[in-house]
Amino acid sequence: MSLAVELRDVSFAYPHGPAVLRDVELAIKPDEFVGIAGPNGGGKTTLLRLILGLERPQQGSVRLLGEAPERLTKRSRIAYLAQRAQLGIEAPATVREVVTAGRTIARGPFRLLGAADRAVVDEAIRRVGLTPLTTRPLSRLSGGQQQRAFIAKALAGEPEVLVLDEPTAGVDVEAQAALAELLEKLHEELGTTILYVSHEFGAVEPYVDRLVLVSGTIVFDGPPSELPAPWHDPSHVHS
Ligand SMILES: Nc1ncnc2c1ncn2[C@@H]1O[C@H](COP(=O)(O)OP(=O)(O)OP(=O)(O)O)[C@@H](O)[C@H]1O
Ligand SMILES: [Mg+2]
Repeated sequence: MSLAVELRDVSFAYPHGPAVLRDVELAIKPDEFVGIAGPNGGGKTTLLRLILGLERPQQGSVRLLGEAPERLTKRSRIAYLAQRAQLGIEAPATVREVVTAGRTIARGPFRLLGAADRAVVDEAIRRVGLTPLTTRPLSRLSGGQQQRAFIAKALAGEPEVLVLDEPTAGVDVEAQAALAELLEKLHEELGTTILYVSHEFGAVEPYVDRLVLVSGTIVFDGPPSELPAPWHDPSHVHS
């Protein structure tokens, strides 16, 4: 099986800055659901940006679906929800309009959407549990519902790899756990590779196959059950 993501000996610094990531080795198979956690400033977002080809490492190599990420020919194979994706939320667009836009982007601008595309859109909305709110403007949804609408938008492109960077602001542990649960279901039902940055590994632990802790490099990579005791914060352990 070829790898969904492969980083070999990757080191990276922003221009004129200190090293942010050093000696990163990471291989993710297409059938994995990987949780990524670590302290603020540890390099989680930077790691995602390297994987997506939005930054280039000074050292080492990155492969995404077997290609150099910046040269990946069909971008819609990948969906990325950035940490600060709350753009356009003041716009009057409804859930269906936002999710349809996701389908249009994936199909390319010169193709009219047909009945099959509309079915994909409806299915994406159903999967995230927003069917009753299909015609509601995003500006009148809760933060968690807006996040689900953006996930549906991503799903409407039928990506092979879904990359999510959890926003820190306004996301409580319960909401993060609910999102992890939703993603686990998508992963099982659709077989999508998922990389999910969460700021509370306690919230993702029960759902992911694999946990990667990032703090300047990868300091832990394995099943959550093998996480060394010092990393566990008792207040976040789920029974
Ligand atoms: N565009 C940038 N230019 C220069 N330095 C940056 C830039 N983005 C991030 N950094 C620095 O790189 C380091 C890693 O940042 P990064 O955003 O990857 O961390 P993070 O683990 O995602 O943190 P958080 O949990 O706060 O989201 C930090 O020291 C940060 O200040
Ligand atoms: Mg970040």
